[in-house]
Amino acid sequence: MPRTLGLRHIALRVNKLDECIKFYTDVLGMALELQTEGYAYLTFGQDNISLHQNGLINFPSQQRLEHFGFACATPEEVDKWHQHCKELNVEILSEPETFGIGTRGFSILDPSGNEVEFTYHPPIVDLCFSLCAPRTHTDWQTYHYIRKDSIFDQINVEYDPNHPSLNDKNNYHYGFYLQNQMIGTLQLENLGGKKCSIRTIAIEKSQRNKGFGTLLLKMAEEKARQIGAYIIHLHGNPKAKTFYSDNGYEEMEFPNDVSIYSETIDYGKHLK
Ligand SMILES: CC(C)(COP(=O)(O)OP(=O)(O)OC[C@H]1O[C@@H](n2cnc3c(N)ncnc32)[C@H](O)[C@@H]1OP(=O)(O)O)[C@@H](O)C(=O)NCCC(=O)NCCS
Repeated sequence: MPRTLGLRHIALRVNKLDECIKFYTDVLGMALELQTEGYAYLTFGQDNISLHQNGLINFPSQQRLEHFGFACATPEEVDKWHQHCKELNVEILSEPETFGIGTRGFSILDPSGNEVEFTYHPPIVDLCFSLCAPRTHTDWQTYHYIRKDSIFDQINVEYDPNHPSLNDKNNYHYGFYLQNQMIGTLQLENLGGKKCSIRTIAIEKSQRNKGFGTLLLKMAEEKARQIGAYIIHLHGNPKAKTFYSDNGYEEMEFPNDVSIYSETIDYGKHLK
């Protein structure tokens, strides 16, 4: 079953839209992200509400709740939910659609007619997840632990926390954080000539199969673009074959680079 980041969205039906906007911004301190005719989208960053002017939507007069929504980590996760709901013959109220600042969502009805939405909203993901250099000594310990436990121990290769690549200026070492907790690792190596390599990508055991590895890979691709690379090479563990192919990686020669593990498959991707 696909996963969500939690219940992060409530939509309310209001009869005093302007006063309500003022209330949620001035009294509660929310930011007004979007306002259109009869509609406003307000956010606390990770949580948001939308206000729908009474009368614009045809539903029972006593009802104040318009719908509620679950946040998804990627637009693809929204589509997975859509597929999942279709397979289970759930009533789909609106098909997946991308709008505004890249928000993507669709809605279903529960058996009582409540509207349930699944939404990817970029600021929620930006605030929940980050990919950055380990910040503290403890972060570095976690970084080494995840790499050792998830990658090196699995292939019986001794892990060296003082390996020269850790201080090499062409290598970027990133922790993948969910809020303040590091749950994954990634090493990006600038190979020059607009090429780079993704190495030691790992998600900590308890956090796998939630779509987080996919998100980490997307964020790594953004970092690759930032250093001017448009081809990514990697040595992939055969166990992660579908993970890479699902994310658009194809078998591709990785010239002049020998993997520490003889069973790896070489993959590559041209970034758009
Ligand atoms: C490879 C790795 C980074 C993937 O991370 P992940 O967070 O599990 O990745 P995702 O959840 O995005 O996708 C992985 C799998 O979960 C499935 N999946 C994706 N989203 C999902 C979701 N929301 N719910 C359930 N399953 C999901 C994918 O289909 C994929 O399955 P498949 O590979 O069997 O097809 C992780 O498994 C890992 O750290 N492995 C050990 C280290 C390693 O081998 N690294 C690669 C070195 S080459």
